[in-house]
Amino acid sequence: MDIVNIGILSISDRASAGIYEDKSGAEVKKLMQSYIKNEIIFHYELIADEFELIKKSLIFLSDEKKCDLILSTGGTGPAPRDVTPEATEAICEKILPGFAELMRQESLKFVPTAILSRQVAGIRKKSLIINLPGQPKAIKECLEPVFPAVPYCIDLIGGAYIQTNDTIRAFRPKK
Ligand code: MTE
Repeated sequence: MDIVNIGILSISDRASAGIYEDKSGAEVKKLMQSYIKNEIIFHYELIADEFELIKKSLIFLSDEKKCDLILSTGGTGPAPRDVTPEATEAICEKILPGFAELMRQESLKFVPTAILSRQVAGIRKKSLIINLPGQPKAIKECLEPVFPAVPYCIDLIGGAYIQTNDTIRAFRPKK
């Protein structure tokens, strides 16, 4: 089985300043371990809501760490400091609107304020990048519906062959 490299980029002014603990990064890690059968190497970063810093970290995780999947948390809302979607769009070669469409659609079943998340997903080199909201509960609500399409997307961009557990069956079209 391929080894899968996953980047977790937690974006929060307060967590990065040590005001509170970053619970979102741990939630992403826990979910990935429950979905994926392969051995996973995690690359974790916790940074402030700074446009240039977010771009730099995403480029590092994609170009240097060769992450198959990069999951960012936080900074997707309408507040002045929320710039994660802009930074993601700035460094992606392609945007995949379907991921964010489905995440918002499914999230609306839980909270009306799901409409406030401006999260995006896209491709840079051989990395699939998905923005997630910051709250652990929101992270799970967003990841669960889209994850079945993640392994095939990573196949198509030349990344690791991801095998999933039965709880979150990957869908691959029959050739
Ligand atoms: N999506 C889900 N599934 N569950 C949630 O509780 N919270 C929303 C939204 N998306 C939420 C959600 C709220 S209140 C906001 S402000 C936006 O995500 C942005 O969150 P972020 O700033 O942490 O990225």
